[in-house]
Amino acid sequence: MSKDLAQQTALVTGATAGIGRATALALAARGADIIVHGRNKSRAADTLQQIEVLGASARFEPADLSDPVQVTALAERAGDVDILVNNAGIFHFARTADTDPATFDAHIAVNLRAPYFLVQALAPGMAARGHGAIINISSGAAATPGLGSGIYGATKAALESLTRVWAAEYGPAGVRVNAVAAGPTRTEGTAAYGEAFESAGQAVALKRLAEAEEIAGPIAFLASPAASYVNGATLSAMGGQPALG
Ligand SMILES: NC(=O)c1ccc[n+]([C@@H]2O[C@H](COP(=O)([O-])OP(=O)(O)OC[C@H]3O[C@@H](n4cnc5c(N)ncnc54)[C@H](OP(=O)(O)O)[C@@H]3O)[C@@H](O)[C@H]2O)c1
Repeated sequence: MSKDLAQQTALVTGATAGIGRATALALAARGADIIVHGRNKSRAADTLQQIEVLGASARFEPADLSDPVQVTALAERAGDVDILVNNAGIFHFARTADTDPATFDAHIAVNLRAPYFLVQALAPGMAARGHGAIINISSGAAATPGLGSGIYGATKAALESLTRVWAAEYGPAGVRVNAVAAGPTRTEGTAAYGEAFESAGQAVALKRLAEAEEIAGPIAFLASPAASYVNGATLSAMGGQPALG
């Protein structure tokens, strides 16, 4: 594996599980120093240990992203960051009639407000140094209506829109901002949905769920020099759309 991210520091939110952990490992394998973010200390220790096995360096910075004060504090403690992966997210599925204000607000806070203010805090430093890569993790739910994924999908659609805005705002200073729209992926978070989630794999052309590493690969690509002219894109890692009929 080429160490094309050596000398770079990556903050990966939600790196204590699932896609975030796989991303932290993929970036570490390419030589980046990793700031592992999350809340769960024992799962963070597991991620740190796996990064250590790869011979890369890492530290844990906890923060509850539903609290804007903690978001600001996380950005301050992170310091100079070359790569920001806005991965942490929540998905509590309910139809509109069954979505209460607390659930609505939680999705906005974690999936949208936290990435927004992390970018506000960290992108100017990248711009001042003349380089940086930001990758926002979206979902097929941003573009495809799903019964029960209304507010979740809305936060991801907004994140894809902001990806294009930030690409325009920070691109002139050498900071690239892209998104990866993930398909149904086997993670700690989706394990809670059991058999019902397993069948989601049948709705994509590849006819199976993704493993977290299969989403981390495209994320690491967008962070890497190989994607040096990719800016404002949403890369689909959704296993393909099956044909009708
Ligand atoms: N899995 C899928 O099928 C799928 C598909 C499309 C898009 N996505 C997106 O991919 C991202 C990761 O999904 P996943 O399935 O890997 O999730 P997951 O297994 O549920 O892990 C979620 C991660 O986010 C962190 N997190 C959640 N709420 C947080 C909060 N309030 N403050 C701080 N950290 C918080 C968790 O940290 P702690 O546990 O340490 O608190 C954990 O590290 C999400 O943005 C999700 O929307 C997932």
